[in-house]
Amino acid sequence: MSENRKEIGPYEYMEYFNRTTALMVTMDKIGKLNVMALDWKKLFEFENKPVIRAQVAYSRYTYTLLTEGVNQFTINIPSGKTAHAIDIAGFSSGRNTDKFKKAGLDIIPGKSTKVPTIKDCILNYECQIIHEEKSNMSSHHYFYGEILSAYASNEILK
Ligand SMILES: Cc1cc2nc3c(=O)[nH]c(=O)nc-3n(C[C@H](O)[C@H](O)[C@H](O)COP(=O)(O)O)c2cc1C
Repeated sequence: MSENRKEIGPYEYMEYFNRTTALMVTMDKIGKLNVMALDWKKLFEFENKPVIRAQVAYSRYTYTLLTEGVNQFTINIPSGKTAHAIDIAGFSSGRNTDKFKKAGLDIIPGKSTKVPTIKDCILNYECQIIHEEKSNMSSHHYFYGEILSAYASNEILK
């Protein structure tokens, strides 16, 4: 398969989800993309749906896109090929940097979301925001994204 990945169930390969920092992709209303490093993430069942809960600080451009953009996000767990993007995604802001260009990331159009996933990652999740709330840290907010599609790369598929 040219994409080098297969669709999986939302709870499969979770050990890889928990292991490393994720690349969270968001989009504004006219299709401009941004990517942010995300450590505070959890995958679990919420109201009978598989969700990823992302904890995002109010100061992030990502927060603005999550609240004023397309109401979707993707979560991408980098492989050795894309791990370098964590520093770029985590130490510069989409307000003044095209982080996709800077990190040389390629995208795969979403099947279930307008927001694309990132190529050459070990796991990808396409999520629709179904709930949000203040986090227990006053500077952060929780976004609950229902997992509509999930993928694992051939690198980790058993
Ligand atoms: C390894 C790493 C993990 C991070 N995890 C989070 C996180 O879970 N939540 C968060 O709000 N910021 C987190 N950050 C900080 C953001 O990624 C960083 O502020 C980024 O520049 C925000 O980009 P943006 O303004 O384009 O949204 C992390 C940064 C690094 C380097």
